[in-house]
Amino acid sequence: MDLLPQHIAIIMDGNGRWAKKYGKPRVFGHRNGVKAVRESSESCAELGIKHLTLYAFSTENWKRPKFEVNALMSLLVDTLKNEVETLNKNNIKLNAIGDLSKLPSKSYSALLECIELTKNNTRMTLTLALNYSSRWEIINAVKNIGRDIEAGKIISDQIDSELFETYLDTAGIPDPELLIRTSGEKRISNYLLYQLAYSELYFTDLYWPDFRKEDLYKAIIDYQHRERRFGKTSEQLT
Ligand code: FPP
Repeated sequence: MDLLPQHIAIIMDGNGRWAKKYGKPRVFGHRNGVKAVRESSESCAELGIKHLTLYAFSTENWKRPKFEVNALMSLLVDTLKNEVETLNKNNIKLNAIGDLSKLPSKSYSALLECIELTKNNTRMTLTLALNYSSRWEIINAVKNIGRDIEAGKIISDQIDSELFETYLDTAGIPDPELLIRTSGEKRISNYLLYQLAYSELYFTDLYWPDFRKEDLYKAIIDYQHRERRFGKTSEQLT
């Protein structure tokens, strides 16, 4: 087994509960979550992990109070503006998946700008899932395949997993070998459902703002002790 995953996906959960623990508003938790975003990105890059994908805003998150949604969107803008220099210094490319055009225009343009400014970086790709849900992504892929069939670009018999994957937002990105979710919740929550088919799942009780480099190392060490069989028997792997 490769010792290091090439791709780690994270569900950053528990910002609200972390803030509550300190008697603060939920937004205080999100603000402190940015520190954990920075630490996990830095440590993945240092370790030589090629892809880190973070669930920053789900399609369902629009249902939160308007004040919180606005705060999350402006935190995104501020973070992108503040971190672009560090991303470039660390040779990290920013990428995004999800229904991005439905983001508020300020967030969308800050995102596009940061993607543009970091597009030549090669050490690691940091993908933010924004206004993302896996069912949306899959349905969107099916729609686009339908359109390409109607346009005569492909025929239905050509559809296999390789072709299908080129229609997903994650086209060109290898599947995550490891998924981490913080805050003690043990769900996938509409995140990368297709891509996580064979991923190892790691759950920690830590709230996201408390997640530090050492906690990422712990998750990777745990992953390294798992036996990834992809449906085979243990004997077939040796
Ligand atoms: C989940 O905690 C967290 C989110 C929905 C947002 C994640 C956002 C950040 C970490 C900050 C901004 C990130 C970037 C990339 C700029 P929750 O609010 O669901 O916590 P709870 O389950 O305790 O309520």
